[in-house]
Amino acid sequence: MAYLSAAPESTDVVRDALIAHDYLVDEGLTTAVFLALTLQRPLLLEGEAGVGKTELAKVLAEARGSELIRLQCYEGIDAAQAVYDWDYARQLLHLRAAEASGEAAGAGTKALESQLYSEQFLLKRALLRAIEPTGGPSPVLLIDEIDRADDEFEAYLLEVLSDFQITVPELGTFSADNPPVVILTSNRTRDVHDALKRRCLYHWVEHPTFDREVAIVKLRVPGIGINLTRQVAGAVEALRALQLYKPPGIAETIDWATALGRLGAKELNDDVVEITLGTVLKYREDHERVRETGVAALVKQALERGAFHG
Ligand SMILES: Nc1ncnc2c1ncn2[C@@H]1O[C@H](COP(=O)(O)OP(=O)(O)OP(=O)(O)O)[C@@H](O)[C@H]1O
Ligand SMILES: [Mg+2]
Repeated sequence: MAYLSAAPESTDVVRDALIAHDYLVDEGLTTAVFLALTLQRPLLLEGEAGVGKTELAKVLAEARGSELIRLQCYEGIDAAQAVYDWDYARQLLHLRAAEASGEAAGAGTKALESQLYSEQFLLKRALLRAIEPTGGPSPVLLIDEIDRADDEFEAYLLEVLSDFQITVPELGTFSADNPPVVILTSNRTRDVHDALKRRCLYHWVEHPTFDREVAIVKLRVPGIGINLTRQVAGAVEALRALQLYKPPGIAETIDWATALGRLGAKELNDDVVEITLGTVLKYREDHERVRETGVAALVKQALERGAFHG
């Protein structure tokens, strides 16, 4: 299979490449990816949990035949974890060895220091690795869940993303001759700053439509029948309309369909929904909400939505 090039000719090429790797996209996301590649701009994907933000970056790397470099953000993440650090343990060992062999005394402090702060002892983290020359296609850099990092880190990121350049004071400046494809994701637990947004193209990833979700389940859980597949997609659609604390994402739909398949269910009914609800809804409040509106009502809606008409 041909790899997706750095500058694809059309949005169709992008869509086909993603579909070939089992990722079903709609037109909006396809266009966003096409533009991000063509304009060489980072793409910020926001959306609810489980709508396929992280997966897009993984699939894009596969489709381009390039490495995926993932930076998982969290509260308190800093440059030492995201850019580089020095391997203190190995530096210390090197120092001891130099002392033991008498080299340390001969070489002088300056020379020894430049040995210790050489690339050999540099631990390259995600951002630094992402701007290194690769020989092949540049990597996909996934900066996952940026909303969890704090403001200072975001400001730092902005700098790196504007010129793909990182300075290590002891060694000099590293810069990318072939910049990585950058995907940032956010669950919107807080707003990403305008300055960073300005650097990026932005796309809000929606829950899939009924038809696309049916297609995704067919692809990812091929063992179950079409009736059950459609009913599950119908039930999930109904659940998402319930104002739940945590509406189910595609991952939950896939889990639910898989669980139902394992239980040998051919159709949804009240009993089987009752016992498997924990694969789709992970909060007690949400379970209660469904029971308030009635499992029977949910099943009825799902069967109607799942039925073939015409
Ligand atoms: N468009 C799609 N086509 C096929 N499978 C998909 C698609 N979108 C999502 N999936 C499936 O749903 C799962 C969840 O997606 P993913 O982990 O990327 O969601 P997310 O948006 O990153 O969620 P979170 O915000 O919780 O990290 C993936 O493992 C993948 O199997
Ligand atoms: Mg994710």
